[in-house]
Amino acid sequence: MSSLNEILTEISSIRAEAQKEFQNAQNQIELSQIKAKYLGRQGSVTRLLKRLSELPPEERPQIGSAVNLLKDELNELYEKMELKIKKNAQLRALEQERIDITLPGRRQPYGRKHPLTQVTDEIKEIFQGMGFSIAEGPEVEYDYYNFEALNMPKNHPARDMQDTFYISEDIVLRTHTSPVQVRVMEAQKPPIRVIVPGKVYRHDSDITHSPMFHQVEGLLVDEKVTLGDLKGTLEVFVHKMFGKETRLRFRASFFPFTEPSAEVDISCMICKGNGCRVCSQTGWLEILGCGMVDPAVFKAVNYDSEKYTGFAFGMGVERIAMLKYGIDDIRLFFENDLRFLKQF
Ligand code: PHE
Repeated sequence: MSSLNEILTEISSIRAEAQKEFQNAQNQIELSQIKAKYLGRQGSVTRLLKRLSELPPEERPQIGSAVNLLKDELNELYEKMELKIKKNAQLRALEQERIDITLPGRRQPYGRKHPLTQVTDEIKEIFQGMGFSIAEGPEVEYDYYNFEALNMPKNHPARDMQDTFYISEDIVLRTHTSPVQVRVMEAQKPPIRVIVPGKVYRHDSDITHSPMFHQVEGLLVDEKVTLGDLKGTLEVFVHKMFGKETRLRFRASFFPFTEPSAEVDISCMICKGNGCRVCSQTGWLEILGCGMVDPAVFKAVNYDSEKYTGFAFGMGVERIAMLKYGIDDIRLFFENDLRFLKQF
């Protein structure tokens, strides 16, 4: 009788102790440890069950069912606590990962076109509006296209004007976009109306010269093309690019591949032609070279110069951009300083 009471007391003290421990469990690991301590193979409840065989047979049923009841209760409690711990962890995660949708967003910085690209696009657009299409050619060019076919045979003094980078005896970095004129005329018959934007290279570097810079070439060939057509075309361009009030001046000049040749000045947009630092007090700014295509060039591409005439022009993109925006150092275009680039 006494052993019966003793075991029953033990059962209820294990129950009380286990309940308290289960209820205080903070996480799954603690919970599993407590489960092992009571219900595991070496657990105290399991040990109680093993001891049943040592009891007098008449006590076994009562104690057996009491221990089984305890086992079921603790299993149930374990499951209840496991669920509760899982739910708590989930709630905590939700709380921590909560997004405050009222916070203002962080703006992505966005890029924009380089000022030289913007100016090139603008030049292209103006000439496209007059029916010109775009042509391109190689930057590494044969001496033949860069010089020879443009009426500058070897030892021609005009070659000295161009500070050429040589790759080999007969291959150069093109010093201007004019070689593309020859390539276009070799590939097509008149009428021709193209502009050629691209990089060119000259051995020259200071605040207004860069060893790599950009030009846009123009070429128009057809029957009965006159110097008047050239002047009219450039006038439209200048008025669109710099404003209607800008005046043009054609100054006689020389290029081996055009005859007659001219340089075009525009009235200084800074001082409106009155004279200032930018135009060196002259009131004029030089912006491009041009002329009527020399018959020698037509000969090189097998065009009949009795039937066809044409004009060509070439301008520096950096120079146009510097004048348009009042920039006095060409190197600013190539330093990629965002404080400069952001202004465009
Ligand atoms: N190619 C000349 C230069 O780079 C410019 C030019 C082009 C002049 C076409 C006349 C005609 O200086």
